[in-house]
Amino acid sequence: MADKKRTYLVTGGAGFIGSNYIHYMFDKYDDQIIIINFDKLTYAGNLANLSDVEGRDNYIFVKGDVTDRKDVSSVFEKYDIDRVVHFAAESHVDRSIVDPEIFVRTNVLGTATMLNCTRDAWQQEDGSFIEGKRFLHVSTDEVYGSLQEPKEGEEPSYFYETTPYDPHSPYSASKASSDFIVKAYIDTYGFPANITNCSNNYGAYQFPEKLIPLMIHNALEGKALPVYGDGKNVRDWLYVMDHAKGIDMVMEKGKLGETYNIGGHNERQNIQIIHTILDTLMELLPPEDTRRMNVSKDLITYVTDRLGHDRRYAIAPDKIKSEVGWEPDTCFEDGIRLTVKWYLENEDWVNNVTSGDYQKYYEEMYSNR
Ligand code: NAD
Ligand code: DAU
Repeated sequence: MADKKRTYLVTGGAGFIGSNYIHYMFDKYDDQIIIINFDKLTYAGNLANLSDVEGRDNYIFVKGDVTDRKDVSSVFEKYDIDRVVHFAAESHVDRSIVDPEIFVRTNVLGTATMLNCTRDAWQQEDGSFIEGKRFLHVSTDEVYGSLQEPKEGEEPSYFYETTPYDPHSPYSASKASSDFIVKAYIDTYGFPANITNCSNNYGAYQFPEKLIPLMIHNALEGKALPVYGDGKNVRDWLYVMDHAKGIDMVMEKGKLGETYNIGGHNERQNIQIIHTILDTLMELLPPEDTRRMNVSKDLITYVTDRLGHDRRYAIAPDKIKSEVGWEPDTCFEDGIRLTVKWYLENEDWVNNVTSGDYQKYYEEMYSNR
C-alpha cells in the first residue's frame, strides 16, 4: 500500500499569511501532502488568494468557523489529520480597539475549540497522543508588549521566548490568552504543540488595512498617507514567505512543547517604511503610467495616535536559529520591491477587496482622526 500523504488542517488559510503559507507548502512539497483549508471567510478571508491551487487534487476548502465545535469536529471525522496549523484569528489592532469582543471570541474561544477537537481526535485511551501528530499555534510578538527605544550608547533590548507577557491592545491580549491556553494543553495533557511568535509580516495578499498595503494603495490613488503619532514607532518586518518557512521548519524540527520567536532583525520606524514605499513606487512605475502623478511625499499626513500604541517591537530569533536552523532568505530591500511590484501588478485584487465594506471601514477609522 502506498504511504499515506501527510495531511494538514490549516485554519485561516484564506487570509494573508495562511494563503502565502499554502503557496509555500505546495511549492515545497507539491503532491506529497494534502492541505485542508478551513476558513470562515470573514472580510479578511479571500479565496482569490488561492485561485491557482483550487484545481489541485490535494487541496480542499472547507467553509467553517473555528468557534463552532460541530464545524471543526466534522473535519476530523472526515479526514485523518496529521498537522494542524492554526492561523485563524481577528488580526487588526485598530479593529480590536473599536470592537474587542469578536477578538476574544475568535482568538480565545476559537483556539480553545481547535485544541479540544484536536485532542478528541488525537488522544488515545491511555492518555498519550498518536505518534507523529503535531499542532502549531501561530502567534505574534505583540504578546510581549512594548520595548523602549535604546538611548544613545545603550544596548537595544529584544523580545526573547522568556520575556514576560505584557499585552496592551485587545488584539494582543486575546492572542496572549490563546497562547496561554495552548501552553496549558501542553502542560496538562502533554498535548503535541508548538507556539510561534512572529514579528510584523509583509508581502502579497495583505489586506490594505495594514500599514504597508494601505500606504501603497493610498499613494497610488493620491490619497493622504495617515501616520499615527510621531511616525517613529518601530516594527520588525519579515517577508511573509520567511514566516511560512519558519512555521514549516518548527513543525518538522522544533522540539514539542516549545515556543519559538520568528523575526529577521529588521527594525524600521513607520515613517521610514512610508518613505521607502514612495521611493519604490517611483522606481517601479513606468514613466507613462498616470499613477506616477499621484505619488508624492506631500501626501504624508500626521494623524491622532492609535490608543495604547506600542512603541517598539524587536525579536531575538536566536532560539529558532540555533535549535531549528531557520534563517530568513529575503532581505527587506528585496522583499519590499517584490511586494510593491505585486500590488502594482494586481490592481484587480486590490480593487476587489477595497470595494464595498472597505470604504465604510476607512471612513469610520480615518475620517475624524
Ligand atoms: P488575516 O486577518 O489576514 O487572516 C485571518 C484569516 O482567518 C481570514 O482568512 C479569516 O477569514 C479567517 N478567520 C477569521 N475568523 C475565523 C473564524 N472564526 N473561523 C475560521 N476562520 C476565521 O490574518 P493574518 O495577518 O494572515 O494573520 C494570521 C495569523 O498570524 C493570526 O493568528 C495572527 O495573529 C498571526 N500573526 C500575524 C502577523 C502579521 O504581521 N500579520 C504577525 C504575527 C502573527
Ligand atoms: O507584530 C505582529 C503584528 O503586526 C501582528 O500580530 C498583527 O496581526 C499585525 O496586524 C501587525 O500589527 P501592527 O499593529 O504592528 O500592524 P499595522 O500594520 O496595523 O501597523 C504597523 C504600524 O504602523 C503601527 O505602529 C501603526 C502604524 N500605522 C498603521 C496604520 C494602519 C500608521 O501609522 N498608520 C496606519 O494607517
